[in-house]
Amino acid sequence: MDNPSRRDVLKTGGLLGALGAFAVVTPAQARPWRWSPAGSIPGTGSGADPRQVWDDEADPIVASLLERGDVPRVNELLRTWKKNSQPLPEGLPSDLRDFMEHARQLPSWADPAKLETAVRFNEKRGLYLGVLYGFVSGMMSTVIPKEALAVYYSKGGANMKGRISKTAKLGYDIGSRNAYLDDGEMIVTSVKTRLVHAAVRHLLPQSSHWADLAPEDVPISQHDMMVTWHSLPTSVMRTLKEWKVPIPAAEADGFLHSWQVSAHMLGIEDQYIPATWDDAESQAQQVLDPILAPTPEGVKLADMLLDLGKGLDFSLLTRPILGALTRFALGNEIADWLHIPREPVWGTLLDVAWGPFIAVREGLLPLPLAPDAYWTFDELLRQFVLLYMAELRPISIEIPEFNNPN
Ligand code: HEM
Repeated sequence: MDNPSRRDVLKTGGLLGALGAFAVVTPAQARPWRWSPAGSIPGTGSGADPRQVWDDEADPIVASLLERGDVPRVNELLRTWKKNSQPLPEGLPSDLRDFMEHARQLPSWADPAKLETAVRFNEKRGLYLGVLYGFVSGMMSTVIPKEALAVYYSKGGANMKGRISKTAKLGYDIGSRNAYLDDGEMIVTSVKTRLVHAAVRHLLPQSSHWADLAPEDVPISQHDMMVTWHSLPTSVMRTLKEWKVPIPAAEADGFLHSWQVSAHMLGIEDQYIPATWDDAESQAQQVLDPILAPTPEGVKLADMLLDLGKGLDFSLLTRPILGALTRFALGNEIADWLHIPREPVWGTLLDVAWGPFIAVREGLLPLPLAPDAYWTFDELLRQFVLLYMAELRPISIEIPEFNNPN
């Protein structure tokens, strides 16, 4: 048996204990589920512990596709399915087709006016979102232990940069003008991602690497989905507030709504989707904040992520700058977990000049006090946006057939 002691520790939830150098924390796994469905979109629900709920609809169908050897044919057919309003391709297995016809429907509570307001939010804040999705959400995913394990040992773990930037791209796509409209692509992206997650639930338990380390038998529960969800919109909103970016309430609500719809489309049950930012915050304090912790896999994934700009023509997206940015945005504790060195020059510049830079950009201060720093930061944000636009188009989400071969 590989490393039984680490598995044993993980199984009882004390992930940090497995690393020896860290204190054993109270296992989040062992705590009772407390978040009430009263704070969810329908305001009611069974209240079932989401750590024991996966995706009843998608999982059996995708497991069966994998068992039947249908996945290569399905992937080929689905490559042509790109736009929200496009009919499903001819020739899909009937069980999959039936599921997808149902899964592509927006929830009855989707509100076009709020989605339109989300577009306004994204247009106004688009320059920040590249760095926020990439370096707040993306880096955070490396200290979400179960996600780091799942990602590292699944097929995409062999190409971490691609995997993280695709998730960031989904965040970015949500903000496109036509995201959920007929000519947009968010519905397609979400339904395909739902299929990918269902495949991972079937495949990862067959990986001895994963099975030896994971604290559960089946990955990507509804609880895990919400954890990752909070690493996206909730963390973005928390950071924007920290940076003192003024956001009108209607725009904040629109942004939340676009992510609520995406949660539903990714297969998260409505009873777990927070209704308001206050509900989201209360849920994040329960599901996200206490579980952040380092793992050897997460440290390796973060190391790969710091090379995001390598070999590309983006002069500011270097390892030291990205490291300083991670430390600035996520704090010293997380940066130390990830073995990211301190960068005195860039670290100090961010500490001193980022606040005034935001204030000038937001029209709260008249002139940049340090024009060089202002333009450097502005260019940094622009390079992130370009990176996502240039690197990740077109995105093709395919159902995996195997785990990380390494
Ligand atoms: C794949 C997004 C939650 C693990 C993907 C992909 C996207 C995505 C866009 C497709 C990427 C690609 O084609 O390479 C999201 C979003 C989530 C979420 C928006 C929550 C709101 C999770 C969670 C886990 C997870 C909670 C694990 C605990 C994975 C894995 C893959 C994947 C292992 C497959 C990579 C492969 O091909 O091997 N996710 N994800 N995801 N996701 Fe998620």
